[in-house]
Amino acid sequence: MRTYRIAVLPGDGIGPEVVDITVKVLEALQKRAGTYKIDLVWGEAGANAIAKYGTNVPPQTIEMLKTTAACLKGPMTTPEEPGAPPSAALTIRKLFNLYANVRPCLSLPNVPSLKPNIDLTIVRENTEGLYSNIEFEVSEGVGVAMRVISRKASTRVARFAFKLADRRRKHLSYVHKANILRRTDGIFNQAVLDVSKEFPGVAVESIHIDNMAMQLMKRPESFDVIVTTNLFGDIISDEAAQLVGGLGIAAGANMGENYAMFEPVHGSAPKYAGQDKVNPIATMFAGKMLLEYIGEKGSARELQSATFEVLKEGRALTYDLGGKAKSSEMCEAILDKIRRT
Ligand code: IPM
Ligand code: MN
Repeated sequence: MRTYRIAVLPGDGIGPEVVDITVKVLEALQKRAGTYKIDLVWGEAGANAIAKYGTNVPPQTIEMLKTTAACLKGPMTTPEEPGAPPSAALTIRKLFNLYANVRPCLSLPNVPSLKPNIDLTIVRENTEGLYSNIEFEVSEGVGVAMRVISRKASTRVARFAFKLADRRRKHLSYVHKANILRRTDGIFNQAVLDVSKEFPGVAVESIHIDNMAMQLMKRPESFDVIVTTNLFGDIISDEAAQLVGGLGIAAGANMGENYAMFEPVHGSAPKYAGQDKVNPIATMFAGKMLLEYIGEKGSARELQSATFEVLKEGRALTYDLGGKAKSSEMCEAILDKIRRT
């Protein structure tokens, strides 16, 4: 039997609830398929680990991750004070060189979407840019943050995005602010254009980030794959999520050469923790991307169609989708579909 060792980091706030639901769904899919086995290894990470270990990604968690094929990560709280440990997501992204953050944005059945038929994917550079963590106060009241953009990192994320566009609708938009950030985005754009020569079948479109914020509202259905630098990608991925129903349904994959981490795009929403209230679909779709990554595409498709059916029926919707169902009720409705297929 095919066996996959998968790390699970439940995280903070609503994390444990939505991760638990996702694990139930993954287990039901695996049982249903009967052809593979997922060995889950649970680990600690997030703000909850700081008091205990003095850091949000303790060394034993890092060692554990290294023994697994991929990781399912729940949302985690990131402290904002200077000097606090960096975000756990960032630590894992950098440690495993998960250079491409892939965030699909798809209109779902019965979920209000700004326009019909939105099906785009953002590929965000995940290791540098304004996330380089090089920030200091040069003199009293004057701070500087370094936006590091390298040809190497730009080229590899561009190639990832082109490969994806080539398998999809063969359209790639690259998003930048090269009219102002001439050197850094000059390097990024040149890398994209150089890689584009390897993909003559993919049409390429250049868009400034401010215009992109508007075009996403105006013609979201016209985009296929969007590639951009780290912070721009962070910002437009929340905007894109809202186009098709909000953060409750948005998932992302952090892809490297040898490892990948899957997570909801949303945060830990501490005010909803323990209430069995939030939409578990974002984390479930992270689980779906994980299944695709390990090669269990049949189960990934089943998870998607079970979710789509529940959305279509509209009986077990969480509050963010206009319903009254608890997270666990939505989970049960989806499990029911999986068991019956
Ligand atoms: C995301 C999040 C993270 C980011 C935070 C929590 C550090 O907003 O995954 O988009 O900025 O990348
Ligand atoms: Mn974000």
